[in-house]
Amino acid sequence: MRTIAIVNQKGGCGKTTTAVNLASYIADSGRRVLLVDCDPQSHASMGLGIDTEDLDSTTYDLLIDPSTQVRDAAVTVSERLDVVPSSVVLSAVEQQLSGRPDRENKLKRKLEVCSADYDYVLVDCPPSVGLLTFNAIVACREAMVVMEPSYYSLHGAVKVIETIRLVRQQLGMRKRVRVLLTMFDRRTRFAKEFLKEAQTRFGREMYSTVIRHTVRFREAANWGVAISHYARSCKGARDYRDLAYEVQEDENRVEVEEPITEAEEATRLEPGMDEWILSQPGPHFVEGGVLFSLVAPEANHVELVGSFNDWDREHGVELSRNANGVWHATLELPPGKHLYKYVIDGAWRPDPANENRTTPNEDCVIEVYRRD
Ligand SMILES: Nc1ncnc2c1ncn2[C@@H]1O[C@H](COP(=O)(O)OP(=O)(O)O)[C@@H](O)[C@H]1O
Ligand SMILES: [Mg+2]
Repeated sequence: MRTIAIVNQKGGCGKTTTAVNLASYIADSGRRVLLVDCDPQSHASMGLGIDTEDLDSTTYDLLIDPSTQVRDAAVTVSERLDVVPSSVVLSAVEQQLSGRPDRENKLKRKLEVCSADYDYVLVDCPPSVGLLTFNAIVACREAMVVMEPSYYSLHGAVKVIETIRLVRQQLGMRKRVRVLLTMFDRRTRFAKEFLKEAQTRFGREMYSTVIRHTVRFREAANWGVAISHYARSCKGARDYRDLAYEVQEDENRVEVEEPITEAEEATRLEPGMDEWILSQPGPHFVEGGVLFSLVAPEANHVELVGSFNDWDREHGVELSRNANGVWHATLELPPGKHLYKYVIDGAWRPDPANENRTTPNEDCVIEVYRRD
């Protein structure tokens, strides 16, 4: 039985979508799959059409009640696919198990009992590194760290890999970590830069399948079905089918003792992460808007002025300086084309990192796209 925890402490990066669709495609290919919903928000359960109001036992009982086994809580949603659904009471587990010995091994013990019943167990984790995620990491031999192209997501990925390393070292457990990029939109330069950086950083720990940004996922989740049952031929569905294939292809490798060196190395680079993102050329699309950054260690004051504030120098956006002389500010900008310049110690300057400029004014251009 293969056990995979789907993790990232950042919310909204595609964990649940990955859990639901990967589980569904692996089951379609003939393997017996169990999905354990470990998020009190129950999105995976709802995403597979389970009515979470009307359940006898859930992940909560599995973790709290010694006599509840997987077979008591599992709901069959399709041929070869079972789900242990969650409910809001799951959020009380942390508190209820606090101080109890063995509290991080609860899920592990229950999965051991059903090891003959399934080929694959996927655990959908909540957006935090609390006791629930910890239980999932301890219970699973593998971790699939999911991230969308955003700084916070990368940060969350690194944090969770650190936690896994801790578990490995302190509990002496073998773990395998792999990283999946989701919501990839090749139209944005940032996404492309992000993919390249992630590939460099995580090396072969990164899945070669990348899940593209597809509106159909939201629709499928609303209808309570996996993408394969809703829009089988859309690009996101094809991507998850490829991922299911790639995961299964990996089966034999998992059994080989393998240090997770590359992913671990990546976490050691963590202090450099802000630097990396700030030192990339041009403005970046990040969560919360557009990140403007300028390398100017000699400057004393930097402002951003442009079409978005009517070129009003009195009300320019002040940039903050970090320890290495990189100035930065994040601005929420509506979709459309925006022009800007920096005012560095009173002098107008184009952004040296942005080659996209108007003539003859040398105003720099940034275009914000509407998503889908
Ligand atoms: N590849 C994708 N393209 C577009 N939207 C996506 C994609 N993956 C997930 N979403 C949407 O993004 C939102 C967050 O995804 P979700 O899987 O719930 O993230 P998490 O479980 O990490 O919080 C959901 O509305 C989901 O439908
Ligand atoms: Mg989720």
